[in-house]
Amino acid sequence: MTGWIIAIIVICSLLALALVALFVVLSNKWLVTTRYDFKFAAAPERGVKIVHLSDLHAAVFGKDNSSLMKKIAREEPDFIAVTGDVIHAYRKRDVAVAQKTVKSLRAIAPVYIVSGNHEMRSRKWREFKPLLENCGARVLDNEVEEVCGISLCGVNCASLKNGTPFELADGAKGFKLLLAHKPEFIHRYSLAGYDLALCGHAHGGQWRLPFTEIGVYSPGQGLFPKYTGGVHTCGNMKEVISRGLGNSECPLRLFNRPEIVVVTINRDIAAENEDMAEAEGEEKAAEEKDIAK
Ligand SMILES: [Fe+2]
Repeated sequence: MTGWIIAIIVICSLLALALVALFVVLSNKWLVTTRYDFKFAAAPERGVKIVHLSDLHAAVFGKDNSSLMKKIAREEPDFIAVTGDVIHAYRKRDVAVAQKTVKSLRAIAPVYIVSGNHEMRSRKWREFKPLLENCGARVLDNEVEEVCGISLCGVNCASLKNGTPFELADGAKGFKLLLAHKPEFIHRYSLAGYDLALCGHAHGGQWRLPFTEIGVYSPGQGLFPKYTGGVHTCGNMKEVISRGLGNSECPLRLFNRPEIVVVTINRDIAAENEDMAEAEGEEKAAEEKDIAK
């Protein structure tokens, strides 16, 4: 009888361990795609579809990243935006993995990358940047490029707190899309005049409270941070935060599946008409004022 009890306890313990292992694997390798559809008065006439990835940290999903690539290719994006931390600062093997990943992404669509704190912290940004470019990526290192009728502004991670986000926005025309690694400077990005910002960095708070949007920790924001995922509005700007795909110091995600973000931008015709009517009204009032004088 005692033998049976021991056998049942052992089997139950093994089952529990297997379930925990399965849960951990799923939490870290089961990709989720989150879609956001936005309408902006300043958006280009033709809609733009962007796949937004962040914080890969050389993560791999399926053999040679086949699961990740399949999911991205299915979206048929106009371009892919990568908001930093494609590597871990101190893991040497990450560089080769990142190069392979960027080549695969480039086979799907044009790739635009900004640096994250890990690229900057590795102190080898000057060496790593050309490697990414050799794989076909366009690295926006405090630069603006017109893509699909929008001004794509990429700020490197070391310049987020200085005047660069403002200078780039001032020099940009039309719809202004910012790629920036850190999300917590949302007020600066909004003040600079961007329409939309794509960010990452917080890894969704790394561990999330089960079945909530509440993350536990993010570097730079501390415990129970505000900006870890989803969409946040500040003034006229929206900020999309990717929960990221890989891990850095903490090797585990809990209740926080790795995320592919898909953003679609369309023109808001009603808002555009309102703006035009408002401008016409102001013009008419000014004319009437002139006549009255
Ligand atoms: Fe990261």
